Amino acid sequence: MKNKLITIRSIEEKDLNVIQSWNFDEETSKYFSPRLPISSNEQKKWFEGQVNSPSKKKLIIEDNQTKELIGMIGIMNIDHVNKNCEVGITIGNHTYLGKGIASSSLKLVVDFLFYQMNMHMIYLTVLENNKNAVKFFEKFGFRKQGLLHDILFIDNKYQSYVWMNLIKENQK
Ligand SMILES: CC(C)(COP(=O)(O)OP(=O)(O)OC[C@H]1O[C@@H](n2cnc3c(N)ncnc32)[C@H](O)[C@@H]1OP(=O)(O)O)[C@@H](O)C(=O)NCCC(=O)NCCS
Repeated sequence: MKNKLITIRSIEEKDLNVIQSWNFDEETSKYFSPRLPISSNEQKKWFEGQVNSPSKKKLIIEDNQTKELIGMIGIMNIDHVNKNCEVGITIGNHTYLGKGIASSSLKLVVDFLFYQMNMHMIYLTVLENNKNAVKFFEKFGFRKQGLLHDILFIDNKYQSYVWMNLIKENQK
């Protein structure tokens, strides 16, 4: 999947160090479940789990011109019977934030899921206090469905997820 500025491709083993730096970046990781440090062996096992699973796919967003890695899009829980799946997106390379790259990347993936994989509904969870992300997904067309109360324990307190989804027919 690509447009003039970016290409969305499968993750490769050579991307792992950059992905690890994003996963443990203070700014990015504050909106996700806390993680213990991981070894290169654990990271390799995680990668093998990703490439061998039929129900999920990790994608990299890459700058067409500089080949710099921009971020990641995950497609999870692919359910071919009920025609739904979960997505997540992270712009790990902060120089690309706020430039519309996240929206255009997500659009490429969502269009692929709806029109090539025949998904009916795409859903996601995002921390309630991650206001920018909630706004980002609402602007994209996702609608809030409810709260998953006290699902994560971060900074010594339980925090909730907003559950959001996008149905093919309601796409903006
Ligand atoms: C959520 C996240 C992906 C959004 O990324 P982003 O880079 O801010 O997204 P975009 O640039 O596509 O859109 C955001 C804003 O840029 C604006 N924008 C769009 N095109 C633009 C352009 N060419 N130049 C400047 N701004 C632009 C959008 O209109 C939007 O503006 P808004 O303030 O009115 O909402 C990013 O903040 C992130 O990675 N967060 C950490 C991980 C996370 O929380 N993920 C969500 C849970 S899965």
